[in-house]
Amino acid sequence: MNLILMGLPGAGKGTQAEKIVEKYEIPHISTGDMFRSAIKEGTELGKKAKSYMDDGALVPDEVTIGIVKERLSKPDCEKGFLLDGFPRTVAQAEALESLLGDLNTKLDYVLHVNVPEEKLVDRLTGRRICPECGATYHVEFNPPKQDGVCDNDGAQLIQREDDQPETVKNRLSVNSEQMKPLLDFYDDKGYLVEVDGDQDIDVVFQEIDDKIGGLV
Ligand code: AP5
Ligand code: ZN
Repeated sequence: MNLILMGLPGAGKGTQAEKIVEKYEIPHISTGDMFRSAIKEGTELGKKAKSYMDDGALVPDEVTIGIVKERLSKPDCEKGFLLDGFPRTVAQAEALESLLGDLNTKLDYVLHVNVPEEKLVDRLTGRRICPECGATYHVEFNPPKQDGVCDNDGAQLIQREDDQPETVKNRLSVNSEQMKPLLDFYDDKGYLVEVDGDQDIDVVFQEIDDKIGGLV
C-alpha cells in the first residue's frame, strides 16, 4: 500500500506513522527524520537543511525532492511505503506524481490528520523524544511510564530544537499556508481521506485503520 500522511506540525503524523508501519509492514519515510539524522551525522545534506529547520521554514524543494527520489527507488519500497511530511508543496506533489509514474506505481490514499490549529502549540511544546529510538511522548497527553525516561530503552528524553515556542509559531504559519492547495490537489485526484486527529491516539489509529483497511 502506498500512503501519504499529511497534517500540520503536531497533528500526530509521527505518532500514527509508528502504528501504521507496524501493522501494514511498509517502510516509514519521514523527510523530517531524514533531515534530523543528516544534521546529527554532519553531512552536506544536514548542513543545507539545518538553517531552514532552525527557523521553522521549509527546506528548498529541489533538496527535499532529491532525497525522496533516492529513498523511494530502494527495493524495500516495492512492497509499499508511508510518506510522512512529504509532499508539503504542490511542486513536491507534482514531482512525486512523476516519480511514481517512472517507478510504475501510484498512490492509494492520502491521509489528512486534521487538528484545530489552536491545539497544536501545546502538543509541540509538550513533546519529548527519545534520542536513541526516536519514540515520541508528550508530557501530558502521552507521558512515559517514568518521568523523562524512554519506555523502550531507558534513555533520557529530550526536546526537539524546533519545538521552542517562537519556532513553533513560524512552522505553523508556513505549513498552514501550503496546506490548502495541497489538499485540493489530492482531493481532485480522489486520493484524499480525512481523519479526525483531535481524539485519543488509539482512536485516531482505529479511524485510519478502518478507513484504509476497509477500503482495500
Ligand atoms: P517534520 O519532522 O516533518 O515536522 P512537522 O511536520 O513539523 O511535524 P512534527 O514532527 O512536528 O509533528 P507530527 O505531526 O509528526 O506530530 P507528533 O506525532 O510528533 O519536519 C521538520 C522540519 O523539516 C520542517 O519544519 C522543515 O524545515 C523540514 N521538512 C520536513 N519535510 C519537509 C518537506 N517535505 N519540505 C520542506 N521541508 C521539510 O505529535 C506531536 C505531539 O503531540 C507529541 O508529543 C505526541 O505525543 C502528541 N500527540 C500525538 N497525537 C496526539 C493525540 N491524538 N492527542 C494528544 N496528543 C497527541
Ligand atoms: Zn527510546
